[in-house]
Amino acid sequence: MSHQNGTTPGSAVGSYMENGRSYGSYRRGRYMFPIDEEEKDRLDMFHKLLTLARNNRYWDAPLPERARVLDLGTGTGIWAIDVSDRLWKDPSNHGLVHGLDLSFIQPPDVPSSVSFMQADIEEPWPVHEMDYDLIHIQMLLGSIRDWTGLYRKCYRHIRPGGFLEHVEVEWKFQSDDNTLAADSPLITWSDSLHRAMRTAGVPLDVNERTKSELRTIGFTDVTETVIQLPINPWTRDRRQSELGRWFNLSLTHSIDALSLAPLTRVEHWPADKVLTLSADVKRHLCDLNTHAYCKLYIWTARKPSQ
Ligand SMILES: C[S@@+](CC[C@H](N)C(=O)[O-])C[C@H]1O[C@@H](n2cnc3c(N)ncnc32)[C@H](O)[C@@H]1O
Repeated sequence: MSHQNGTTPGSAVGSYMENGRSYGSYRRGRYMFPIDEEEKDRLDMFHKLLTLARNNRYWDAPLPERARVLDLGTGTGIWAIDVSDRLWKDPSNHGLVHGLDLSFIQPPDVPSSVSFMQADIEEPWPVHEMDYDLIHIQMLLGSIRDWTGLYRKCYRHIRPGGFLEHVEVEWKFQSDDNTLAADSPLITWSDSLHRAMRTAGVPLDVNERTKSELRTIGFTDVTETVIQLPINPWTRDRRQSELGRWFNLSLTHSIDALSLAPLTRVEHWPADKVLTLSADVKRHLCDLNTHAYCKLYIWTARKPSQ
């Protein structure tokens, strides 16, 4: 497995504690969310939810037999490992999946086709240009200062004819039947968090111009798919209800993790005020009379063959 700076994937090297959570020290302050065991569980829950929402698919692009895949901000690496397991059964004949992340929070034992490297993806990448059949980005809202710059870099690193897939949860709640009150703690929490992240220069907002930006950079076949994620199983629809169960579990594990650093560091709230709002939000998330949902966005795009 390749890695840089002598750090071992799977080790808890390079972290510091703040308000009971552990944060990465590499490029300290660059990333606002924790990297501890609780956070790893949260990311793995989202992986399950997003896979379900994509009809048990990890990606959509047609890939060659020995594909080269790059996962940006790979987190626990669960997507990278699952992609390798799904693509290649024969250990002597496989392509590769590279994962880049600020932190080594991936497991040490992974298939030989998978390797993780420590890198800030808003700096030059430690991998070759024009080298990947698929670049995957998932849940990096709130991490990236310059999305256009990141998409341009993706374009340069994708082989002609290769693909980009970008998956994001929008952290805004809405309902179509007025069961979500304007003064709900869900709205207060989401508004405060979005404000803090904008001030910090790493917005959580979904960019409504994503499709046109991808086209301007040179991508073709650009698509945007939007899927509703109910905040709990309030709906009668069986599939939506299952998504609601997984989203509720993932969401209730997200509220402290997402808000502690932004609201204390940027909005200067005391930690106990954050945790009080957080507890209120978690209670409201489980209210079956609130027919609220968030949107899941999936953008896909292709680099032209010529
Ligand atoms: C919310 S997690 C998502 C992880 C993974 N993509 C998933 O869907 O489970 C964001 C990850 O991006 C990493 N990250 C944030 N900013 C980064 C940057 N500038 N360069 C590299 N990794 C970054 C974080 O360390 C974290 O592991």
